[in-house]
Amino acid sequence: MNKRRGWNRSCRTVSSLAVSCVLAGALSALPACTTPPAPDDPVSRGKEIFFNQTFNGNGRTCGTCHPARNNFTIDPAFIATLPPTDPLFVAEFNPALGKNFENPKLMRQFGLILENLDGFDDLEKKFVMRGVPHVLAQRTSINSNQGPRTGWSGDGAPGDGSLRSFATGAVIQHFTKTLNRVPGVDFRLPTDAELDALEAFMLSLGRQQDLALPLPLKGIVAKRGQEIFLDNRLGKCNLCHVNAGATANFGTGNIGNANFNTGVANLPDQPADLAKEPNPRDDGFGRPGDGTFNTPPLVEAADSGPFFHNNAIETIEGAVAFYDGESFNNSPAGRALAAVDPNKVGIELDGTQIVAIAAFLRVINTLENIRQSIELLEEGAAKGFADRKEARELLERAVSETQDSIKVLDGAGLHPEAVAHLQKASKLAQKAARSFFRRDTLTRQAIDEQRKARAQLTEAP
Ligand code: HEC
Ligand code: HEC
Repeated sequence: MNKRRGWNRSCRTVSSLAVSCVLAGALSALPACTTPPAPDDPVSRGKEIFFNQTFNGNGRTCGTCHPARNNFTIDPAFIATLPPTDPLFVAEFNPALGKNFENPKLMRQFGLILENLDGFDDLEKKFVMRGVPHVLAQRTSINSNQGPRTGWSGDGAPGDGSLRSFATGAVIQHFTKTLNRVPGVDFRLPTDAELDALEAFMLSLGRQQDLALPLPLKGIVAKRGQEIFLDNRLGKCNLCHVNAGATANFGTGNIGNANFNTGVANLPDQPADLAKEPNPRDDGFGRPGDGTFNTPPLVEAADSGPFFHNNAIETIEGAVAFYDGESFNNSPAGRALAAVDPNKVGIELDGTQIVAIAAFLRVINTLENIRQSIELLEEGAAKGFADRKEARELLERAVSETQDSIKVLDGAGLHPEAVAHLQKASKLAQKAARSFFRRDTLTRQAIDEQRKARAQLTEAP
C-alpha cells in the first residue's frame, strides 16, 4: 500500500486532477504514472487474501463474515441482502455441510455462527453459537500481560490467541468442505507468509490508537452520557472499557485487554433460546471454560450490533441497560463492583442515564465513522485513472460509513443538523464514485460536509 500511495502522491504533486497523470503518462512525460507497481506490501497482500482466498475450501473467505462494506461483521439485516448462493449459506446448499456445521435459522434470524471451540470430537453436542465481531481496532484491543486475547472468550481457541493462529483456526472451523476437516483435502492451511500478511492487514483496520476522554462534545445528552461513563461511582464503564476501548484499569494501572464474567450468558429470554433451537451454554475462556468473556472496544459498537458474544441484544440502548439488570449485578463482575462500592451497589442506572450513555456511544461511533469516511474519501480522490475501480470501492465504502453515521444519530434523534450534512456528504460521495472527471471536486465537497457534520458534534478541530 505504501508503494501505491507513494505512486499516487508523486502523481498528485503534478496536479490535483488525477486525470493529468494519465495525460502526462500518455505524453510519456511521467511514465511511472501509467504502470503502477503491483502491490507487494504485507497489508495489500493480506487484504487480497482476506477477501479472495478460499484456501481450497467450501468457497468462503474471511470477508464472507467480515465484509468491509458492513463494518467487517455480519448481522441479520446484512445477511438478508445476500443471494442464496452466497458461501455464507454453504450449510443450505452443500449436503456435506447440512448438519452440525451451521444453524441456518439462527444465522439468518440472529446473525449467529456455530463454533466448535472445545474441539471437533462431538459435533452434535459440543458447539456454541456466537455473533461475529468486527475486526476493527485490533491494534489497541487485544494485548494483555498474558499475551494476545482474540475471540469473544479471549482464548483464540484453538491456538495461542494471536491474530495469526486465530486465522488458522478460522480456516479449519469455517472453510472446510466436509466435516472430516482433513487439511490438504477439505481445505489447505494458510502458509506462514499468508498469516503474516493477514495479521498485517487486520492490524491496519480502523483506529490505531485509543481516544483520550473526555472529548469536548456539544450534545448535552451525549456529554452527560460521557460523564456517567467515566464516573467510577456511577456508570463504572471506564473501569473495563478505558477511553471506550477494550482495556481495563481499576486504579492500579492499565492491565490491557481483560476477561470478565459479566453474566451475559445468564440473560433470560435470549433470542436463540426463544427460537427453540439447540443453543448449548457458552462457558467462555478455556477448556472447560471459566465463564469469562473478553472485553470488546466500544467506539465501534453503535453501528456493529447485535451486541455481546451471543448477539443477545439488538440495540445499543438495550446493551447499556444490561448493566442495570439482574444478570449483570448478580454476576461475579457485578458483585465485585458492589463489594467496593460505598453503597454496595454494582451498577445502577435510570432510564435517562441509560439513554445518555447510549447517546455518547452513538456520537463517538459517528466521530470514528467520519474520521474513516474522510480517510476513504481522501484515498479515493488520490487514485489515478488506472486505479479507478479501487477509487470507486473506496468511495463506496465512504458512502456506507456515512450511511452508518446517519443511522446511528437518527436512531436516537441526535444532532439533526449533523445528519443533514452527512446526507449531503453521502450523495456527493455516491456521485463521485460514478464520476471520473468530477471525482476530485465532488470528493472535496463530500469531505467538507463531513467536517461540517463533525463540527456539530464536537468543539475539537
Ligand atoms: C463463517 C463466518 C466466519 C468466517 C468465514 C471467518 N470468521 Fe472470523 N469470526 C467469526 C466469529 C463467529 C467470530 C467470533 C469467534 C469467537 O468468539 O471465538 C470471529 C472472530 C474473529 C476474530 C477475533 C476478533 C476479536 O476482536 O477478537 C478475528 C481476528 C477473525 N475472526 C479473523 C478471521 C479471519 C482472518 C478469517 C479468515 C481466515 C475469518 N475470521 C473468517 C466468524 C467468521
Ligand atoms: C467488569 C468489566 C465491565 C464493565 C464494568 C463494563 N463492561 Fe461492557 N463489556 C465487558 C465485557 C467482558 C463485555 C463482553 C461480554 C460478553 O459478550 O459476554 C462487554 C461488552 C459490552 C458491550 C457490547 C459490545 C459489542 O460489540 O457487542 C457494550 C455496548 C458495553 N459492554 C458497554 C458497557 C457500558 C456502557 C458500561 C458501563 C455502564 C460497561 N460496558 C461496563 C466488560 C465490562
